[in-house]
Amino acid sequence: MKILVTYYSRSANTKTVAQKIAKNLGADFEEIIDKKNRTRKIVGWIIAGRDASTKKLTEISYKKDSSKYDLVLIGTPVWAWTMTPAIRTYLFENKAKIVGKKSPKLAFFCTQGGSGDQKTFIEMAQLSKKSICNLTIIDKQISDCDNSVFGFCEAIKKKLKF
Ligand SMILES: Cc1cc2nc3c(=O)[nH]c(=O)nc-3n(C[C@H](O)[C@H](O)[C@H](O)COP(=O)(O)O)c2cc1C
Repeated sequence: MKILVTYYSRSANTKTVAQKIAKNLGADFEEIIDKKNRTRKIVGWIIAGRDASTKKLTEISYKKDSSKYDLVLIGTPVWAWTMTPAIRTYLFENKAKIVGKKSPKLAFFCTQGGSGDQKTFIEMAQLSKKSICNLTIIDKQISDCDNSVFGFCEAIKKKLKF
């Protein structure tokens, strides 16, 4: 079972969750870089929220080929009750590879302050295909999410029988 954990993270919460998932599943691990500067505090936050809610694409970089995997886990922070522009772009760019007969299975995970995860997962599936499992971690659980991550990984292993 070849597994890839790929994610975008602005302030490292999603990265923390992605690392734990990758460790548990023995997966390859790759961060998607958004080439637009998202680090500026207030202005960056406003522009990020606007770009997410208007479903803007962005310029991203990543190296790993999703079609080489049996399972791809895709992680995003929730921005404006939806996925980040980086993950929207990743799904657009990879659609041909992740949809179709021999394409990998998908699982989604997100981090959020409090709400928007379900809408985010629905939209991610609309841009790709149904995931086999979803995981949400809220910000105040980040430092204590090992059990949730473990449960998520176990559910995946059970579904895919490995
Ligand atoms: C521009 C922006 C918009 C956000 N919108 C939401 C939201 O709609 N719902 C929510 O629960 N959290 C929202 N958040 C909070 C993030 O989803 C949350 O802090 C997440 O853990 C950040 O992940 P990261 O550290 O991987 O970037 C938003 C954060 C930013 C920067």
